[in-house]
Amino acid sequence: MKGLFLITAVLLSFLQDSCGDDLPICRDLRAPFQYPDATYCPQYAELGCCGKRGERRAEKTVPCSQEKEACAEYTRNISCLTCSPFSGRMFDDSDNARIPLCRSYCAETYRKCRYSLLKIFKLRPWRDGLVSRNPETEEELERDAVAFCEKYASEAPYCYPQIMALESQHTSPRPRSPTDCVCAVPVATRLVQPQAIADPGDKSNRLFILEESGNVKILDRGLNKVLEEPLLNMTRVLSVDKETEPNLTVGIVSALYFKDSYLHIAIGRTPESKDVLNLRSYNGKIIRIDVDDQDPGKEYAIPPDNPFINDPDAFPEIYAYGFVQPWRCSVDPGDPVDGYARSDLIFPINSYTYGRDIGLVGGYMYYGCLHPNLNGKYIFGDYTGGMLIMEEDRDTGEWERHRLCIGDSSICPGADVSPLFVASLGQDSNQEIYIVAIERDTMDAVASGVLYQITDPTLRNDPQECNKKNTKFT
Ligand SMILES: *[C@@H]1O[C@H](CO)[C@@H](O)[C@H](O)[C@H]1NC(C)=O
Ligand SMILES: *[C@@H]1O[C@H](CO)[C@@H](O)[C@H](O)[C@H]1NC(C)=O
Ligand SMILES: *[C@@H]1O[C@H](CO)[C@@H](O)[C@H](O)[C@H]1NC(C)=O
Repeated sequence: MKGLFLITAVLLSFLQDSCGDDLPICRDLRAPFQYPDATYCPQYAELGCCGKRGERRAEKTVPCSQEKEACAEYTRNISCLTCSPFSGRMFDDSDNARIPLCRSYCAETYRKCRYSLLKIFKLRPWRDGLVSRNPETEEELERDAVAFCEKYASEAPYCYPQIMALESQHTSPRPRSPTDCVCAVPVATRLVQPQAIADPGDKSNRLFILEESGNVKILDRGLNKVLEEPLLNMTRVLSVDKETEPNLTVGIVSALYFKDSYLHIAIGRTPESKDVLNLRSYNGKIIRIDVDDQDPGKEYAIPPDNPFINDPDAFPEIYAYGFVQPWRCSVDPGDPVDGYARSDLIFPINSYTYGRDIGLVGGYMYYGCLHPNLNGKYIFGDYTGGMLIMEEDRDTGEWERHRLCIGDSSICPGADVSPLFVASLGQDSNQEIYIVAIERDTMDAVASGVLYQITDPTLRNDPQECNKKNTKFT
C-alpha cells in the first residue's frame, strides 16, 4: 500500500513536471519573446510579452493625481505585469473577475493607492455596495480592503508578487528540443472537407481556403474570420457551364496556388470519369483564373493568355490537362536569415517502408519570423494522423525525423486538437505554416474541417517587429 502510494506520488510529481502548468504564456495565449529595448519594464527585456506598444501602454498608466507620489511605484509595478511572461496566466481575459495581485499585496495597495488601483483595473466596487466610496475611518478603510481583496485578489502562484518566483526561473527563453510540442492554433473552423490553402502573394493578409467541392473561401487574417461570401463557388461555375454541358460533374478538387497572380486550381477526376482529356470537362485539369477581375456572367475573368481561350470546343478556364490525381508540392527557398543552403531535400522514401501506414503529406521548410526555434526545420504531415518534423544535423548533413508533438491544453491553452488528420499543409505570405485538418474517412459534407496555425509555445519573436517586416497592412 505504502509502495503504491509512493509510486502514485512519484507519478503525480512527474506528471506535474511534464505538463506545462508553469510554462510562460502571454495574454494572446502565445509564447513570450525578447524585447531588448525595454526601458520602463526592463525586468521583462529578456523574456516578456510587451513590445514597444505594450511597454508604452504600461508607461501611460499613471496614478491618480491625489496619489501621485505615494503610488507611482505601485502603479508602475502593477502596470508592468501586463509584460510579464506569465501575463497569460495572471490575466484571465475571458473572465474579468480577478486582478493579478496576491491577497496581502492587494490589501496593502488598496489601503494606500485605492483610487489608482481601481482606475488601473476599471473597477467600481462601491456600486454593488462591496466597499464604501469614501471611507471615513481607518477601520472602514481596513474593512473595505479586506472585502475588496476577498473578492478580487488572485491565488498563488499566478499573482504579484509571488509570480516573481516563477519569473526568476524563466529569465531567458528555453531552447527548443526536437521532442518539444508545438501548438496547433485554430484560425478557421467549420470548413467543409478543406483540401489546401493558398496565399495570394499580395500581402493583403488573406488566405484562400479550397474546399473539396471547389469552393474557395477567404480567411481574413486581420479580422481573423472566414468571409461569408466565397471567392469562388464551383457549384455556381458548374451551373453556368451546365447549360451547354448538362452532364457536367467535377472531380476531387485538391490543390490551389497562385502563380503570376492568377489562381490555379487542380481538379482530379472522379473514379468513373473518363474525361481527363475532354476539354469540355473540368476533371483531370488545372484551371487558371483571374480572381481580381470579372468577365460578364462569371465570378472571375479568364486570363488573356490562357491556352484555350479562343477554342470554342474547350472551357477557357483550362490551363493544363491530362491529370489523374494532381497533388501538392513545395520548394525550399533557402534560409533568408543565415543564407544557409541545406542539402537537397529528397524524400527519404526508404525510411517510410517500415511505417506502411504512414501517408506522407508534403510540408514546408520554416523560415517565418515569428518562431525562431523552428527556423530551417521541415514540417510535414502524415495523412493517417499526426505531424512530423525533420531537421538537419549541420555537422553530419543527416536529416533526422521525429513525430511532431502537438501540445494539449496544458501546453497550449484552449487547444483542442483531438484527432488531427492532415489533408495538406500551407503557408501564408509571412511563411508561417498551417495545417489543413479534416475529419478522417468521411466524404460527407460535414463542416468539421479546421485550419490550424503552427506556433511554438516556448518562444516567439516580437510580433510587432515580424509584422513590420512582412506585412504591408498592420
Ligand atoms: C516594485 O518592484 C521593485 C522591483 O521588484 C521592488 O523592489 C519594490 O518593492 C516594488 N514596490 C512596490 C510598491 O510594489
Ligand atoms: C454556391 O452556390 C450554390 C448555388 O448557387 C449555393 O446553393 C451555395 O450555397 C453556394 N455556396 C456557398 C458556400 O456560398
Ligand atoms: C446525360 O445524362 C442523361 C441522364 O443521366 C443521359 O440519359 C444522357 O445519355 C447523358 N448524356 C451524355 C452526353 O452523356
